[in-house]
Amino acid sequence: MREMTDRGLVGQQYATVDRLETRRSVWGPGPEGVSPVEVLRTLVVSTQPRRLIEVGCGTGQFARSVLDEAPNVDYVATDLSPAMVEATRALGVTAEVAPADGLPFGDGSFDGAVAAWMLYHVPDLDGALGEVRRVLRDGGTLHVATNGSEHLADLLRDAGGDPLVTQFTSENAAEILGRHFEHVARRDIETRATFADHEAACAYLATFSPGLAGSLPHFDGPRSYAGHTAVLTAR
Ligand SMILES: C[S@@+](CC[C@H](N)C(=O)[O-])C[C@H]1O[C@@H](n2cnc3c(N)ncnc32)[C@H](O)[C@@H]1O
Repeated sequence: MREMTDRGLVGQQYATVDRLETRRSVWGPGPEGVSPVEVLRTLVVSTQPRRLIEVGCGTGQFARSVLDEAPNVDYVATDLSPAMVEATRALGVTAEVAPADGLPFGDGSFDGAVAAWMLYHVPDLDGALGEVRRVLRDGGTLHVATNGSEHLADLLRDAGGDPLVTQFTSENAAEILGRHFEHVARRDIETRATFADHEAACAYLATFSPGLAGSLPHFDGPRSYAGHTAVLTAR
């Protein structure tokens, strides 16, 4: 999936916040009633980090929610997109533009790190994980979220497409993180995307594939689809 890691295309995808907002807005807990964002936040807060870096922070809601629970954390959010950094700063979070594979911080500067739904975009994945490991002190913890290869696959198939299998999935994430960290733990969480109507499902698809948005057969009323995510901790 070259489009997922092509820096120019990824830059276009996140040049403004609207596509990401459209996608975020449909997600809710799956059958177990568990939200991966809440699981991630609970894990981050429970490690009681003093200084924490988030890479690929997006619009900053996750950073804001951690700070609301743990206001004493020295939280530094980073993202490649200036628009995302601006949105994050607007929430009162310290944020700066930086690529995950070239972090402008010294060795061992942080005791915690977060990379949520972003490692599938990084062209040099091992380079980025090496960077995160470098800026973490020994024993520091990286918290990660990503999607499985069957994530939203039924919607993609209904629209005539194929499942979106990225370079960093629920299925291979532990093995990849294990190249850089000694201990890795993984929890799989099923989620649900709920679309109010056909138009909403098309709008979601249009954020990354206008072609698929145009080929989703019409349906009446709301519809929901399963998402498959994993939250991992590496130290
Ligand atoms: C799917 S969004 C996830 C945002 C946020 N973590 C969340 O969970 O809502 C991916 C984010 O990673 C950022 N990103 C993509 N490639 C990056 C890179 N190489 N270095 C840093 N950030 C990157 C994008 O700009 C975007 O904000």
